[in-house]
Amino acid sequence: MKKLIDTFGRVATDLRVSLTDRCNLRCTYCMPEEGLQWLAKPDLLTDDEIVRLIRIAVTRRGVDEVRFTGGEPLLRPGLPGIVERVAALEPRPEMSLTTNGIGLGRIAPALRAAGLDRVNVSLDTLRPEVFKTLTRRDRHHDVLAGLAAAREAGLTPVKVNAVLMPGLNADEAPDLLAWAVENDYELRFIEQMPLDAQHGWKREGMVTAGDILTSLRTRFQLTPEGDTARGSAPAERWLVDGGPHRVGVIASVTRPFCSACDRTRLTADGQVRTCLFATEETDLRAALRSGAPDEEIARLWQTAMWGKKAGSGLDDPTFAQPARPMSAIGG
Ligand code: GTP
Ligand code: 5AD
Ligand code: SF4
Repeated sequence: MKKLIDTFGRVATDLRVSLTDRCNLRCTYCMPEEGLQWLAKPDLLTDDEIVRLIRIAVTRRGVDEVRFTGGEPLLRPGLPGIVERVAALEPRPEMSLTTNGIGLGRIAPALRAAGLDRVNVSLDTLRPEVFKTLTRRDRHHDVLAGLAAAREAGLTPVKVNAVLMPGLNADEAPDLLAWAVENDYELRFIEQMPLDAQHGWKREGMVTAGDILTSLRTRFQLTPEGDTARGSAPAERWLVDGGPHRVGVIASVTRPFCSACDRTRLTADGQVRTCLFATEETDLRAALRSGAPDEEIARLWQTAMWGKKAGSGLDDPTFAQPARPMSAIGG
């Protein structure tokens, strides 16, 4: 089968699909208090259009992993139906979800029953007051309930994503790890990237992978999981106190993994993006709505991949933040 290959020889087998740009939190490193100018309903792909594009990627271009993201993907009412239809594809891709966890308590069993394999949940702090400051919403308890429900429903391994912010939760790394080990969640720390809507990111204001590892080592013994284990996964992983629990660090800024990238992305309004930091998009929605056949859409997707750059460009002196923030691209 033809694959989604780029000019550097990388093959995209992992498709990240944003289901909405909306969110019910307002994380300070992501969007402003008042929210953003949300996409209008007619601009969003319909559930049928999403399933069709995933089917084309899976059956015509060899994509074997699908991740649903947002915004907050649980805000999309059709999610269980989309999961169920993707689970029926032949070959069946692995399916995961990246969510802030709100509402997961209720819907985890239905998502599992529909065929979802696993979830990654964002949680930056164990302190409800800090959560409220960081996300501008008092929903800490809902996230903890969502996490527990995901584990009970078998959406495992349940991974927890944490972004550390100086002066807010940067001192919490060891506490978060102790909690994750105790609850059997796989914790990963994410370096903050320049993808916030407010364009407020500063390299000097970022907690780095190095800082995080130093902080964790005050309480835990960390041993690298091995050079080969990372592959195309963004997280570098360490065994905690000899194992079996692991902790990961996603060091997109200080230790980029672009040379092994196996991703392609679809925004909620049907644009292919070859990278979080891409400056161009390819409009598959227009092709869909003008009646293009599957093979034509697959070809357009391939053409988009030819434009994939070598890396994020973060270290270039001319780096410019992409026009869309992370919540509108898909995290
Ligand atoms: P698994 O390890 O397979 O569970 O997936 P993942 O870590 O890719 O998924 P998740 O959605 O949890 O992503 C975690 C974080 O990794 C995101 O929030 C981003 O910060 C970062 N990330 C994901 N995709 C990319 C990418 O294409 N480029 C970069 N630089 N960072 C990414
Ligand atoms: N840099 C790094 N991670 C971010 N996330 C949101 N915005 C940023 C950013 N600017 C994280 C969320 C969530 C995941 C989808 O992306 O905390 O865990
Ligand atoms: Fe919502 Fe995720 Fe942005 Fe937080 S980081 S406001 S949970 S989209």
